Amino acid sequence: MGPVGGRPRVFVSRLIPDAGLDPIRAACDAEIWTEELPPSRAELLRLVRGCDGILVLLSERIDDELLDHAGPGLRVVSDYAVGYDNIDVAACARRGIAVGNTPGVLTETTADLAWALILAASRRVGEGDRIVRAREWKTWGPQTLLGQDVHGATLGIVGFGRIGQAVARRAAGFGMPVVYHSRHRVAEEIETALGARHLPLEELLATSDIVSINCALTTETRGLIDAAALGRMKPTAVLVNTARGPIVDQAALAVALREGVIGAAGLDVTDPEPILPDDPLLDLDNCLIVPHIASATTATRGRMAEMAAANLLAGVRGEPLPTAVPPPDLG
Ligand code: DGY
Repeated sequence: MGPVGGRPRVFVSRLIPDAGLDPIRAACDAEIWTEELPPSRAELLRLVRGCDGILVLLSERIDDELLDHAGPGLRVVSDYAVGYDNIDVAACARRGIAVGNTPGVLTETTADLAWALILAASRRVGEGDRIVRAREWKTWGPQTLLGQDVHGATLGIVGFGRIGQAVARRAAGFGMPVVYHSRHRVAEEIETALGARHLPLEELLATSDIVSINCALTTETRGLIDAAALGRMKPTAVLVNTARGPIVDQAALAVALREGVIGAAGLDVTDPEPILPDDPLLDLDNCLIVPHIASATTATRGRMAEMAAANLLAGVRGEPLPTAVPPPDLG
């Protein structure tokens, strides 16, 4: 059963690809935010009022206040992302509101970008590009831009779900030993297939040449890579984060990079996003930063749009979502 008396009313918080917008427009009265920048909080609260369903991005915080503004008709929150730390899932569950995300379709694309950062940060690609563009490339220098070998290096992966495992799979081509840390050890067959060994976090940090962060942002992982964790890493180590910015203590990272506690970092995510213009990381040559683009390929963003639309439409019809975020146990 859908909403009584006509087409469902939905709000879509950005221009997602047509693969998602077309079916939504065909089935719903859709208000679509067409600006490049997200709506302000006040605008968002106004726009969700009276909606049966909303499709949002990770820039939109979905909490009790927003759900109150949406009103009792809201049946579904569809996140255009796999990570759903922007949504208070318990608050949705208390109100019987379904939550959907886009798992699976961005796994390989995100792992590709993690590798782009691993390679670029280890081999100082960003610095090299900046030197050439500044017309400062003077000669072939025996000591110019010396980086760290990636092949044969030990890769440590923090968070060994779909994306972490996809990052590990690619390491075989570089002849790299892989170690991982996650809350739960994965099945032995997976460890064997990926040649990956489970380690406590402290040991992983101490033994890895490259550390890739691939865990979800939760209360347990917020600030996981703090000054103490960075202090356990090798002075040549490269830290790559394609998960969520707040997993790394950004101020501690800037100190560690400046003082040679670790060698380099490659970040797809920061805290906050966008990174503040006066963040010290922006002045460090050994820190490569891209603007949260891990899932940004045409094909993957199209698939994410289809999935997010399918979740939204199922939700407003009162059907089970194709990819639902499991509701927490409310006791
Ligand atoms: C996600 O899906 O969680 C990414 O961070 C954005 O694609």
